[in-house]
Amino acid sequence: MDHSDTLLTRDAAAVWHPFTQHGLGREPIPMASGAGAVLRDSGGREYLDMISSWWVNLHGHGRPELAKAVSDQILKLDHVQFAGATHEPAVCLAEGLLEKAGLTGSAKVFYSDNGSTAVEAALKIAHQHWANTGTPRRLFATLRGSYHGDTVGAMSVGRSSGFFNAFHGMLFETISLPVPLVFDGFLNKEGEETALNEIRRTLETDGESMAALIVEPLVQGAGGMRFHSVSFLASLCHLFRERGIPVIFDEVMTGFGRTGSFFAYQQTGFIPDLICLSKGITGGILPLAVTIASDDLFESFLGNDFSTALAHGHSYTANPVACAAALASLHLHESTDSSMQINRIHARMRSHLDALAAHPRIERTRLLGGIAAFDLAGAEREYTAESGRSLSSFALEQGVLLRPLGNVLYLMPPYCTTDEQIDRAFEVIGAFLSKTARGSQGVA
Ligand SMILES: Cc1ncc(COP(=O)(O)O)c(C=O)c1O
Repeated sequence: MDHSDTLLTRDAAAVWHPFTQHGLGREPIPMASGAGAVLRDSGGREYLDMISSWWVNLHGHGRPELAKAVSDQILKLDHVQFAGATHEPAVCLAEGLLEKAGLTGSAKVFYSDNGSTAVEAALKIAHQHWANTGTPRRLFATLRGSYHGDTVGAMSVGRSSGFFNAFHGMLFETISLPVPLVFDGFLNKEGEETALNEIRRTLETDGESMAALIVEPLVQGAGGMRFHSVSFLASLCHLFRERGIPVIFDEVMTGFGRTGSFFAYQQTGFIPDLICLSKGITGGILPLAVTIASDDLFESFLGNDFSTALAHGHSYTANPVACAAALASLHLHESTDSSMQINRIHARMRSHLDALAAHPRIERTRLLGGIAAFDLAGAEREYTAESGRSLSSFALEQGVLLRPLGNVLYLMPPYCTTDEQIDRAFEVIGAFLSKTARGSQGVA
């Protein structure tokens, strides 16, 4: 038995993995190290991380700048509770994020530690805002196919993602709105107008009960890399703003450059009332999240006793080490010129997608910033679809880490990924398409 066999045996005996059916007996990869866009397993095999380790990694694995920030901070102040105390890394990071967001002086940063809790905090802020102002409202509007995380509130607003059928009994009611999808070469103007009209009608009937609208701006990630247009999103948000209903942008996936702008909302000309950020916030090395709230919302929680205060917080809220990593990551965006890197990756993926678009097994190619996606034609759409699984197994054998969402294949590489590494990933995808065209294990 070599080291990795031992590790896998111990893992099977002691560990329960996320989003995993252990009954299928599929072994996890025993990862041992990472550098740049490459992960290495304990047997020395290399894998190109084309999904940025669940969309968190921005600047590549093993960045010394992030490691140094973490080790310097941990020896200075490792942790302290964030109620009744504050510290330099949290204040500097809040200032830095507000500056990047163009919200200095008009919003506050509320800390938590993962994307789901950033969403949970946003939902609670919206809910309590209405209670604090004496007009309680409890209905949340969402877009069909949204995913916002795995805690109960986040699952409730993400129930149409299809991931949470086992939990429907635990979830609160929401109103789910139509979303007209776009992909390369397809402008759905008519679909957008139809959807907006339906939303107007919903607002006429239910607008007065709505606490907030929550959206994943421009790209609905886990629901299948579903893209919608800037114009649809801006019109949708204005419909809610006109009625005084807060708008929450869940930028847990789209934040920190993924869609081509630092935050996706910056493409819309619309400033949301609440913004949820996590994943790439620390460059992908430590758990941290924030919910940015407008000063108008913040002020509705002010009072002389605790009854109007926000009763939400976690033991590791604003952990100084995670904040120091996030600050170092913000600096890395500047020093590595991450927007230029994203543009380069975008251009490289563009040429590969254009070449793939004519393939009979490829549908709905789409690209925004550093996110490329397409559908495998004719294949089942479920998250567990066999087509996606056979592609990810094939790619893994070829040293490329992909994790399709049903029949949707996407690439969301770290910003340090080289052109040659992107070429290699598409070469492997091309080889899979040729193999399945010839073999019996077709995707159709
Ligand atoms: C848009 C969005 N919101 C929230 C989450 C939940 O984040 P976390 O997994 O850190 O709880 C995710 C995770 O994929 C996400 O994509």
